[in-house]
Amino acid sequence: MAKLLIVYYSRHGATAKLARRIADGVEQTAGAQLCLRSVPPVQANYRPAKGEPVPESGPPYASKQDLAECDGLIIGCPTRFGSMAAPLKAYLEDSADLWASGALVGKPAAAFTATASLHGGQESTLLGMLLPLLHHGMLITGLPYTEAALSETEAGGTPYGPSRWTGADGQRTMADTERDLARALGRRIARLAVRLAGEQT
Ligand SMILES: Cc1cc2nc3c(=O)[nH]c(=O)nc-3n(C[C@H](O)[C@H](O)[C@H](O)COP(=O)(O)O)c2cc1C
Repeated sequence: MAKLLIVYYSRHGATAKLARRIADGVEQTAGAQLCLRSVPPVQANYRPAKGEPVPESGPPYASKQDLAECDGLIIGCPTRFGSMAAPLKAYLEDSADLWASGALVGKPAAAFTATASLHGGQESTLLGMLLPLLHHGMLITGLPYTEAALSETEAGGTPYGPSRWTGADGQRTMADTERDLARALGRRIARLAVRLAGEQT
């Protein structure tokens, strides 16, 4: 089985819901094993917040080992000032030893995000999130326009990765196009991970 790690940060749950739809796509893929993880919030000094060893709800926090052992990686977080949220960045910045050993080289990877406003930085955030994955030597994957929802969407969903528009109060229902693109990305990365993991063994 190819282990597919989805790791995300979500403060209010919008990104978490998108993660769940991406997970659908992974789970629909034969040979792929889902590992769904979150990361804790950070304190003002950008260290992971203490005193929360286990999340009260949702998936467990990701460990370094989860990252080391994955065959494919999908990272997600809300957009913060047009870029990646600090808790996910803190998790990735703790992976220098994996970068040094090349543990993630050649593995497929992608990113997803959520914003309050439709033009509030989904694309800048997604592109920025891909940079650390490129440094790790991962094979970056987005969404192709053969996914009909990419041309039809009037909400989130980009060629750089799935996204959702939550509205100022965070209450917007996920659009069908946002959901379909999230599932498509999950399937796409999972299929790649299954194929590439098979080649390595
Ligand atoms: C500090 C901060 C910065 C934010 N910056 C942006 C932004 O640049 N663009 C935007 O559309 N939304 C921005 N938001 C709103 C969140 O991206 C949005 O509410 C998102 O859906 C929250 O996801 P979550 O429910 O997974 O926490 C910001 C929120 C916070 C707290």
